[in-house]
Amino acid sequence: MKLPENTMHSTLIKRDLLSRNEDEKSVYLLRLSLPDPQCTFEPGDIVFICPENNPQWVARTLAILQANPSKLVVNEEGERISLEEALKSEYELRLRPSVLAQFNEDQANDFWLCLAELRAQKGTTFDEQEVLAWLKPMRPRAYSIASAQKLLPNVLEVIVGLVTFRDVKGGVCEGLSSGFLCKRLPIGGTVKIYVKPSRFRLPEDPSRPVIMVGPGTGIAPFKAFLEYRKAIRATGKTWLFCGGRHRENDFILEEFLENLQHNHHLTRLDLAFSRDQAYKIYVQDRMKEHAQALWSWFQQGAYFYICGDAKRMAKDVEETLLNIIQEQEHLSLEEAQIYLKDLRLAGRYQKDVY
Ligand SMILES: Cc1cc2nc3c(=O)[nH]c(=O)nc-3n(C[C@H](O)[C@H](O)[C@H](O)COP(=O)(O)OP(=O)(O)OC[C@H]3O[C@@H](n4cnc5c(N)ncnc54)[C@H](O)[C@@H]3O)c2cc1C
Ligand SMILES: NC(=O)c1ccc[n+]([C@@H]2O[C@H](COP(=O)([O-])OP(=O)(O)OC[C@H]3O[C@@H](n4cnc5c(N)ncnc54)[C@H](OP(=O)(O)O)[C@@H]3O)[C@@H](O)[C@H]2O)c1
Repeated sequence: MKLPENTMHSTLIKRDLLSRNEDEKSVYLLRLSLPDPQCTFEPGDIVFICPENNPQWVARTLAILQANPSKLVVNEEGERISLEEALKSEYELRLRPSVLAQFNEDQANDFWLCLAELRAQKGTTFDEQEVLAWLKPMRPRAYSIASAQKLLPNVLEVIVGLVTFRDVKGGVCEGLSSGFLCKRLPIGGTVKIYVKPSRFRLPEDPSRPVIMVGPGTGIAPFKAFLEYRKAIRATGKTWLFCGGRHRENDFILEEFLENLQHNHHLTRLDLAFSRDQAYKIYVQDRMKEHAQALWSWFQQGAYFYICGDAKRMAKDVEETLLNIIQEQEHLSLEEAQIYLKDLRLAGRYQKDVY
């Protein structure tokens, strides 16, 4: 993939484990250098990071292919690079959908088996260049920027949750990018990044109240929001709903949030830890508990933000907000939907979810 012109080589300055226990669901804060002095970003912006494949998987791929790692191949941009370099950082160790289509469902779930089969089909006619037509080009991954440039001008921070899943043989695998960022990239190592502006924006008027809902790593942009509001001495109130599975492991940024609260830069903090009791408690349950107060913030002109999982969390939070609007304003569902649409059009209801 052709990277944008604002791509830079950033250095990993530090990586802190934010969750308590590395064996459980782990979340890290990474601080990256910003070598381009022209690079500016606002709270809510996104950074794209170009990950590298696990070197053990690259070695296994080369072994299955019985390929020459130094053989020059032509990448998507028409440049000649070694096969090993292409497998390290320019192609994912995943097959293109058009190539996967020739395998049945069971086979398709096993990358190594498919790769061996593709190699066997070629026999002595195998050419290293063909491998690039089998593999997906590397896709940079998006992360919410978790720091405010007003406070930290020459760096940016991201909060990354290590993604794990089981492969077809039941082995635990790490996500490509999150594994690279949380485990493999050494301190002092470099990585290509570029910043992209987003439409997830704080109100221009810093006296407006702000309500933020971000369970799990969805808290990331809100760290930047809060740091920015503190740096510009915004007078508007701030309310954060966040949480995770277990308070013991997943109360990330606890000290940071407590300090902000202590110094009145965070007006309200409501926590939802889903697995600390026999039944689930989610951020939207906390919203329901405080529906009246939430609504009085809206009446004072509050802006409402959601960040994190789009599939379930954001939908359920939106549904809860609709219920609160219905109840507090005595509206039908259709009327509440129009009310929410008007809030969205006014920029007072924003989502950064996928
Ligand atoms: C706008 C935006 C902002 C974001 N902000 C953040 C943020 O602030 N913090 C954050 O942590 N994340 C954020 N994300 C998510 C992030 O971009 C990545 O998607 C995330 O880190 C996982 O990437 P990965 O490469 O580690 O996972 P991948 O390797 O791409 O895997 C993703 C999923 O694919 C499946 N999978 C992959 N390979 C296999 C296989 N061989 N067999 C079976 N299943 C497989 C697994 O289910 C896995 O969970 C954001 C995303 C967007 C779009
Ligand atoms: N900017 C972005 O778009 C962005 C930023 C960060 C993360 N993400 C993505 O968001 C997803 C979650 O990330 P994560 O690993 O940080 O979160 P997580 O730890 O999996 O989940 C955080 C909390 O949300 C709870 N939850 C589950 N279903 C919910 C629902 N329907 N409503 C409310 N809460 C619910 C979980 O509870 P249980 O598990 O106990 O049910 C858990 O307590 C991932 O896909 C991640 O990549 C996106």
